Amino acid sequence: MNDLNALPADFTWGVATAAYQIEGAVAEDGRTPSIWDTFSHTPGTIDNGDTGDVACDHYHRVPEDIGLMKQLGVDAYRFSIAWPRIVPGGDGPVNEKGLAFYDRLVDGLLEAGITPFATLYHWDLPQILQDRGGWPSRDTAEHFAAYASAVAERLGDRVKDWATLNEPLCSSWIGHLEGSMAPGLKDLTAAVRASYHLHLGHGLAVQAIRAASSDARVGIVNNLSPIEPASDSDADRAAAVRADGHTNRWWLDPIHGRGYPQDMLDVYGVDLPQRPGDLETIATPLDWLGLNYYFRQIVQDDPTGPAPFARQVGVEGARHTHMGWEVHADGLEQLLLRLKDEYGARRIFVTENGSAFPDTVRADGTVDDPERSRYLDEHLAACARAVEKGAPLAGYFAWSLMDNFEWAYGYDKRFGLVHVDYETQRRTIKGSGHHYADIIRAANGGTGRAA
Ligand code: IFM
Repeated sequence: MNDLNALPADFTWGVATAAYQIEGAVAEDGRTPSIWDTFSHTPGTIDNGDTGDVACDHYHRVPEDIGLMKQLGVDAYRFSIAWPRIVPGGDGPVNEKGLAFYDRLVDGLLEAGITPFATLYHWDLPQILQDRGGWPSRDTAEHFAAYASAVAERLGDRVKDWATLNEPLCSSWIGHLEGSMAPGLKDLTAAVRASYHLHLGHGLAVQAIRAASSDARVGIVNNLSPIEPASDSDADRAAAVRADGHTNRWWLDPIHGRGYPQDMLDVYGVDLPQRPGDLETIATPLDWLGLNYYFRQIVQDDPTGPAPFARQVGVEGARHTHMGWEVHADGLEQLLLRLKDEYGARRIFVTENGSAFPDTVRADGTVDDPERSRYLDEHLAACARAVEKGAPLAGYFAWSLMDNFEWAYGYDKRFGLVHVDYETQRRTIKGSGHHYADIIRAANGGTGRAA
């Protein structure tokens, strides 16, 4: 095990999930379809034709799943709330049964000594709002703030740590430009407008959460990547600057009061739907930043490709996960330091980090996944190095508590510390889950927090 002594004594050890990836029960207790129900039921969008209809059936298994977290000994659980459970009409009346589900989850967590970290938007926009224009439309940002307010009013007495958005890059660029995530559009103007309204909705939601719960600690979760040019050529170096703008600066600059990067506005050539005061709202100060880290990007100039005209290339001889993503833990250290040095971050959580490998349950019922344990060790060591160099890292959430619906890849890609048999819904803590529990126990002075 790595030397993690540099991590602060009150470091938060967590696991993360998201509503559509685990809950199932898509038509229960008043929930209406989200864009992911629509997308996953569209033929050809998801590997193997999988959908989130049942997923891990978490909606009916909350006590069992909290029991797993207790066995892992985690301090905190990052989950997301499904907007279409809370406001089935997208705007308007709030659904008591939807709120009651998250009430039960939060109460169960607190009873188990686990701190809830709630994310308000992990991609499941109510379909009815998509039909009215979705994120490219300004109204969606306002409806998001109203939904955030309703949730914070109900849960804010017990939930103190809130994230507004998870990975708005994916909602915007993958959902509206590349088309391989919901709502499945390939339209640069729609993508830029979506990104802007996601940011606006974020700023409005921060204010709404604080209005409902004065001691709330609010952040946003971005997925970022260090970017390197594939060669020393001017063209590749310029491509790396554009890829950095597309992947990192577009998501960090506006929330830090720097507006949108001019070079990227020039690359996209799309007018922002900006109104007076918006940039201030978008830059509402935050209590913390969430960083999701999976891979670096090495890029080449790609003048005929889609914006930002930079193509990712592979790394010869590198290790890769089942997603085809290069394992590169140094990138996590780099990003943590960049958030401190360039953006003055004062409190950061690694809100997601993890790896998919094709696990199998052995005849003796165990799951041996040493590659995932190694990945975990390497990335935690990167966290410790960043802390030694001054990064204000307050916690780490492993992605994911359990195997789940991996979006366009369906159930084939397993990120869990806990294996899920989707036929029986049987959960088995993998070797990496036991390894994580050992790490947490050692960090907590050998006592652990739970059974
Ligand atoms: O499963 C996803 C998660 O929903 C968002 N971040 C990346 C994970 C792995 O792809």
